[in-house]
Amino acid sequence: MTSTADSAAQFDLADHQREVRSMVRDFAAQRIAPNAADWDRGHVFDRSLYAELAELGLMGVCVPEEYDGAGMDFLSYVLVVEELSRADAGVGVTMAVHTSASTLPILHWGTDEQKAEWVPPLARGERIGAFALTESGSGSDAGAMLTRAEARDGGASFAISGTKQWITNGGHAGSFITFARTEEGTTDARGVSCFLVPGDAAGLSVGRVEEKMGLNSSNTVDMVYDAVEVDASQLLGERSKGFRIAMQTLDGGRITIAAQALGIAQAAFDLAAKYATERSSFGKPIGAHQGVAFKLAEMSVELEAARALTYRAAARKTAGLTHTVEGAQAKLFASGVARRLTGEAIQVLGGYGYSREFPAERYYRDAKITEIYEGTSEIQKLVIARKLLGLDVR
Ligand code: CAA
Repeated sequence: MTSTADSAAQFDLADHQREVRSMVRDFAAQRIAPNAADWDRGHVFDRSLYAELAELGLMGVCVPEEYDGAGMDFLSYVLVVEELSRADAGVGVTMAVHTSASTLPILHWGTDEQKAEWVPPLARGERIGAFALTESGSGSDAGAMLTRAEARDGGASFAISGTKQWITNGGHAGSFITFARTEEGTTDARGVSCFLVPGDAAGLSVGRVEEKMGLNSSNTVDMVYDAVEVDASQLLGERSKGFRIAMQTLDGGRITIAAQALGIAQAAFDLAAKYATERSSFGKPIGAHQGVAFKLAEMSVELEAARALTYRAAARKTAGLTHTVEGAQAKLFASGVARRLTGEAIQVLGGYGYSREFPAERYYRDAKITEIYEGTSEIQKLVIARKLLGLDVR
């Protein structure tokens, strides 16, 4: 049986990209996949795993070597997220938020001093990164945030107060990219600034721990900012220009969520295809019945289309080209594929698909969030339509 994951080799991947993919696939098969069911049931965030990933250079795959990263490109990192997610999507999102939402913005917008101070501990895996944008009343309408950063001493420092919700990695993070309103009288995307906040800052604490439908090996919490004092040197980018940092960060982050969705969909396909050759009904393998065979054939097409869109967007970002539309297209399509394929995998496995004895039900629960976080599917359509039509679609 040929796995569709092997056909990715036909995409024009460079040798180093194939090597890192193969290395992560082997590591994930041995260290992650065998634990995924237990982590899911026990809601276990395995901190030691990230130290092991760091030893392999994977906590800073696309971070330059001068900042203690592996110095690889963005497409290599996307392959890493895909392979991790194939074994455990919770590990995939932990890595995705740590890297593209928390480390790369510092590399992109940080001053030399900020990069030297904040990036190496993240790339070495000594710190895990988090991205604090969303609040209970502002998800899709991210610019409506209420968290404030009150300027002190004429802007020499700020005091951040508010509560951020759905913060992936929050309970384990050593640094938080934090968005807060600095300008009085603003209520939308204007007037938002971005700050680098250390995990041990006075006044910063973990609030509610989110009870989720899936992704139970990842950590999702509320973060409470109670007059957290930050120096003006902790501003990332210019004051009141923070929203653009959030948007551009999400442009890249969405490609990695597409990769996460792709990994989940691949795992579901592999499981269904294997089962279809092993399980018999009416005197032959169920895969020899057209009802199942055609389903698997259609699944393979969707998977490859999602892979092509995702790698294309990643290749554009790697080449320094615009990728807002391509990233949104990839995430929109790949997340839908993940939802559909995980549902179909359950259908192929029948009762076993609905049982916890097989991972199909976990894939199904894990897949759904890819249509929601880092921008819902509706937000992806809005982003695509705005760019293509040049209209302020709302
Ligand atoms: N790149 C650069 N700048 C951008 C941009 C982009 N892709 N998109 C918008 N901007 C700029 C605009 O040019 C504008 O700048 P000016 O004020 O200088 O003109 C500013 O940002 C505001 O833009 P909009 O007027 O378009 O803002 P909006 O309020 O209409 O919101 C939106 C646009 C696309 C709906 C945005 O709010 C959005 O993306 N919402 C979804 C939020 C989201 O994805 N949240 C995910 C949370 S993180 C997460 O999920 C992590 C996790 O745990 C997995």
